[in-house]
Amino acid sequence: VNSVKVALGERSYDVHIGPCAREMLQACNLRAGQVAVVADQTVADLHIDKLRSLLPDSTLVLTFPAGEASKSLDRAREVYERLGQARIERSGVIVTFGGGVAVDLGGFVAGTWLRGVRLVHVPTTTLACVDASVGGKTAVNLSAGKNLVGVFHQPIMVIVDTDFLATLPERDFVAGLAESVKQALVRDRAFFDWQETQIGTLRARDAGAISELIARGCAIKAEIVSQDEREAGLRAILNYGHTIGHALEQLLEYELRHGECVGLGMLVENALACARGVLARADADRIRDLLTKLGLPVRLPRPVDPGEVLQLCRLDKKTVGGALQFVLISGIGQPVRAADVTGPEIAAALAAIR
Ligand SMILES: NC(=O)c1ccc[n+]([C@@H]2O[C@H](COP(=O)([O-])OP(=O)(O)OC[C@H]3O[C@@H](n4cnc5c(N)ncnc54)[C@H](O)[C@@H]3O)[C@@H](O)[C@H]2O)c1
Ligand SMILES: [Zn+2]
Repeated sequence: VNSVKVALGERSYDVHIGPCAREMLQACNLRAGQVAVVADQTVADLHIDKLRSLLPDSTLVLTFPAGEASKSLDRAREVYERLGQARIERSGVIVTFGGGVAVDLGGFVAGTWLRGVRLVHVPTTTLACVDASVGGKTAVNLSAGKNLVGVFHQPIMVIVDTDFLATLPERDFVAGLAESVKQALVRDRAFFDWQETQIGTLRARDAGAISELIARGCAIKAEIVSQDEREAGLRAILNYGHTIGHALEQLLEYELRHGECVGLGMLVENALACARGVLARADADRIRDLLTKLGLPVRLPRPVDPGEVLQLCRLDKKTVGGALQFVLISGIGQPVRAADVTGPEIAAALAAIR
């Protein structure tokens, strides 16, 4: 088992990576309080027996329908009502079980139930293993936009049992890889080079390659988050690809996966950086090549209106005083901030994914 420490003073925790949920959950001493699992229905159907066998008999399992639509205040309210009926107290623990949607919904509930109870993530998608389960961001969506309501609430432990990934559909497996490409592009050139050499092993879900991918991705995220837990500065580099990515996710009405939109967002933002003379064409081509070979889409499934993309970018949390602030890259592993990105620049850059 590989461990990655997230150093946050008294809120520090470990990410355990390996095929051994049993030892890890015992180590976590969940028996100290009541346990409520907030689980994706699809994941629960496949794997709840295994998780249940590791938890107290009295464990309450609450499921939500799979999909982004479950990141809603309505769903959160349903979970609160169930927690209330079961009298889950301050000493209780919420365990999330599923992908990024479970992390965000279950984490949001854990951060607000009785003003905050202990939280453990057991992520089951590549995206949640490599990215969402580390860092303490939680959120639900509004019709006005994605992730507009949320709290920072760190877990006390993250348990990545890579055996759960075996049942993940190909498309979701691949979508999550976009986040590890992103992590490499903003922080770790060697990790990018490594991913280029591991395309075959990753796509074949080689256990060693997957564990290394998750450990390296979590280590990058842990290092960034421990310096800037609440995104006062440095942490914003992780939003690379996301300003455009989130806009596409919403405009396409969640027809594409989050990771797929992040991949497309990076391509558009790279085109914008190339047009500004910030990024070399050769680097942009290399990134497009890696995303293509990993199996990520590099074109939109249907056209989007550039004006609507611009409008959604303006609603993004990263906007300051109406001015569009993007994180671009000037090379592999080198993030740069770009202030005052304009509508025409975005419209031109969207051609990269048409
Ligand atoms: N909190 C954060 O820091 C953070 C970071 C990145 C992304 N996110 C959020 O994460 C969400 C996307 O996460 P995701 O891509 O994991 O999506 P997801 O949680 O919707 O999971 C994708 C699909 O895979 C299924 N699934 C999950 N695990 C499975 C398994 N082991 N076997 C079979 N099927 C399985 C789910 O039922 C779902 O249909 C977005 O809402 C995004 O905004 C949050
Ligand atoms: Zn993301």
